[in-house]
Amino acid sequence: MKISVVGTGYVGLVSGTCLAESGITVTCVDIDELKIEKLKEGIIPIYEPGLSELVLDNVEKNRLRFTTSLKESIERSDALFIAVGTPPDEDGSADLTYVLNVAREIGQNMEDYIVVLTKSTVPIGTSHKVKAAIQGELDKRGVNIPFDVASNPEFLKEGSAVKDFMEPDRIVVGTESERARKVVERLYHPFTQQGFQLINMDIPSAEMTKYAANSMLATRISFMNDIANLCELVGADVNVVRKGIGADPRIGKKFLFPGCGYGGSCFPKDVKALIKIGAEYGHEMGVLKAVEEVNDRQKHLMAKKVLDYYKGNVKGKRFALWGLSFKPQTDDMREAPSMVVIDDLLAAGAEIVAYDPIAMEEAKRRMGDKVKYADDEYEALQGADALIVVTEWADFRVPKFTFVENALKEKVIFDGRNIYDPKQMKEFGYEYISIGRS
Ligand SMILES: NC(=O)c1ccc[n+]([C@@H]2O[C@H](COP(=O)([O-])OP(=O)(O)OC[C@H]3O[C@@H](n4cnc5c(N)ncnc54)[C@H](O)[C@@H]3O)[C@@H](O)[C@H]2O)c1
Repeated sequence: MKISVVGTGYVGLVSGTCLAESGITVTCVDIDELKIEKLKEGIIPIYEPGLSELVLDNVEKNRLRFTTSLKESIERSDALFIAVGTPPDEDGSADLTYVLNVAREIGQNMEDYIVVLTKSTVPIGTSHKVKAAIQGELDKRGVNIPFDVASNPEFLKEGSAVKDFMEPDRIVVGTESERARKVVERLYHPFTQQGFQLINMDIPSAEMTKYAANSMLATRISFMNDIANLCELVGADVNVVRKGIGADPRIGKKFLFPGCGYGGSCFPKDVKALIKIGAEYGHEMGVLKAVEEVNDRQKHLMAKKVLDYYKGNVKGKRFALWGLSFKPQTDDMREAPSMVVIDDLLAAGAEIVAYDPIAMEEAKRRMGDKVKYADDEYEALQGADALIVVTEWADFRVPKFTFVENALKEKVIFDGRNIYDPKQMKEFGYEYISIGRS
C-alpha cells in the first residue's frame, strides 16, 4: 500500500515514519524546502525520542521518502493524509488556510480514486469543506474522478509520539463510504492485527472526538490548578488530595498534577477553537471558558509568587530558570508557560538565566537575548538570587543540592511543578515555594 502524508511537522513526520515502519510505502510532503532538504540528508528537524533512528531506518529500506511535490507523490498513493497546521485565527477559531490549500492542490493533481484523511485537528464540518475544495478543482479541470474524504484525528503526545503512534490507545476514523472504510482498515491493519482498537464512526463525530479529548484533558489540568490554589489558602496539600481523589477509578490517577498552566501547540488552541465552534452554533461552552480563564491566570502564578516573596521588588535580582519547553521530552515552546514567567519577571526588572536540556535553540529563536542562557542547570544557578523550576525535566528532579546551595545567593526555590519534597527542602534549609502545598 502506498500513501502520502502532506505536512511534515510533529504529526506528519511521526505519522508518516510510523506508518512506514508498519510496512506501508510513505511519501512525506512539505512546502518547506529547507525542511525537506534536511530530511533528505538525514537531519531530523524536531526532537522526538526514537524518531531519528526510525526515519533513517525506513529511508534506508525505501519505505519512506521526502518531497516538496504533492503532484509527484499523489500519483502513487492509495490514500493521503492532510497533517498541516491549524493555528488559531485572531478570533480563536482554527485557521483552515493550510488544510484547504492542500485540498485544492489534491483536486488539481489527482488522477485516480484516493481517500483523503484529515489528520490535522479541525472544526466539525471541515472534512466536508475539504471535499468541496477538491471537487471544485476537479470541476474546473472538467474531470470526473471519484474520491472519498475521511477524518482520522491524531492523539499522539509530543515527547512520546513514536510510542503513542506505534501503540495507540485507539485509532479514531470517521468515514462516509464503505469504500473509504475498507481502505482505512487496510491501512491500519498492521495495528489492528496486534489488537489495537480502531473505532469507526461518522465524520462529524470523529472531528468532535479530538476536540472533546483535548478539552477534557485541559479541563482536568485547570480543575486541579484551581483546587491547588484553594489548597494553599485553606492549609491543605494538593499532592495528597490528588492521591486521595485519583484512587477513585471513576476519576483515575492521570492528568491530575497541578503546575504553572498548560501550554503547547494543542490544548490552548483546541480549547479556544471549541469555544468558538460552540459560539457559532449559539451554544456557550461555559466549562471551557472557565478552563481557559483559570489557565491564563495560572501561567502568571509563578511570577506572582516570586514577586510576592520579594514584596514586589525584584529589580536587579537574578533568577535561574530551569525548563523552557512546554513540557519535558520536547523542544516545543509554543504557548510555553516559561515565556509568561520570563516576561512577567523581566517587566518587573529582574534578570533571567535560563537552561533547558533540549529547547535552547528554540528558546534563542523565540526570545533572542532578552534572557541569558546557561550551558547546564548548575551554570544557570551561579550568582542567582533564587531558582525557578518551570518544566519538570527528569534532569531536574534529583539535583545535587550542595551545588545548588553553593551557587545560589540565597537558598530559595520556586517550584512550578512540585517536583521536590517540601519536608526535605525544609530539612535542607531552603525557602521552598511550590503549588498548592501551604
Ligand atoms: N503537535 C502535536 O502534538 C499534535 C498532536 C495531535 C494533533 N495535532 C494537530 O496536527 C496538525 C499539525 O500539527 P503539527 O504540530 O504537526 O504542526 P507543525 O507546524 O509542526 O507542521 C505543519 C507542517 O505543515 C507544513 N505545510 C503547511 N502548508 C503546507 C502545504 N500546503 N503543503 C505541504 N506542507 C505544508 C508546514 O511547512 C509544516 O512543516 C495540527 O492541526 C495540530 O493541531 C498536533
